[in-house]
Amino acid sequence: MIGKNVLTFTEIDSTNNYIRLNYSNLNNGDIVTSEVQLYGKGRGDHHWISEKGNLYFSFLLKKEFAFTDMFPLLTVISVSVIELLREYGIEARIKYPNDILVENKKICGILIETTGYQSIQSVIVGIGINVNQIDFGILNEKATSMKLRLNNETDITEILNRFIDIYNKNELIQKETIYTVYKKYSYVIGKYIHLNDEKHRIDNITLDGLLELSSEGHVKRISFNEISLEELYDDK
Ligand code: BTN
Repeated sequence: MIGKNVLTFTEIDSTNNYIRLNYSNLNNGDIVTSEVQLYGKGRGDHHWISEKGNLYFSFLLKKEFAFTDMFPLLTVISVSVIELLREYGIEARIKYPNDILVENKKICGILIETTGYQSIQSVIVGIGINVNQIDFGILNEKATSMKLRLNNETDITEILNRFIDIYNKNELIQKETIYTVYKKYSYVIGKYIHLNDEKHRIDNITLDGLLELSSEGHVKRISFNEISLEELYDDK
């Protein structure tokens, strides 16, 4: 269960970093949120520009995880964001592994970090949802927000509270059930990519988080760090 304690800041470097640095004073399920992040972190060393007006938060899952728990955890988080947006009338999809898109544009990013060396001792989940920002500068072609979809502003605290409720409900649901919902909202299944100059169809995502690709009857399984999904095609 997350969200019994919510620490709120007006300005911070990164909510994920805050949790990492204050780990010993924080408990399982604690949430840290900030109006602005000065060094918001994205995946793969990217910077997550974090101006006032959007939702930036992280939560700590302070318990041991098996490596095989990670993809199911990701499905719970992604499905929770999808359901949250649907409550506001926004239909979003999950771009494997964990970007949330609305009509090809990113509305939410999820950064999962772990602590521990040979085993996972805890997980820090960071989520950025574009809420009231309407100008993304050079990223205008790639990013969107709730306000751009709805034409009106949404209360950021209300969104966080809805996320907490939805996540707490979903984490109790059987992982196979959430996985089925994850696949239903997948943006990538059924699309095509080029790999080693061959066209491959993305047939499936397995419960352990691998992409199942087929090309001329040959099936292969690969993980997200072996491939870029920058260019996805519909069959033409
Ligand atoms: C991505 O690259 O898509 C992941 C972006 C994750 C951004 C969120 S905002 C709250 C939390 N704190 C951070 O520094 N990053 C995550």
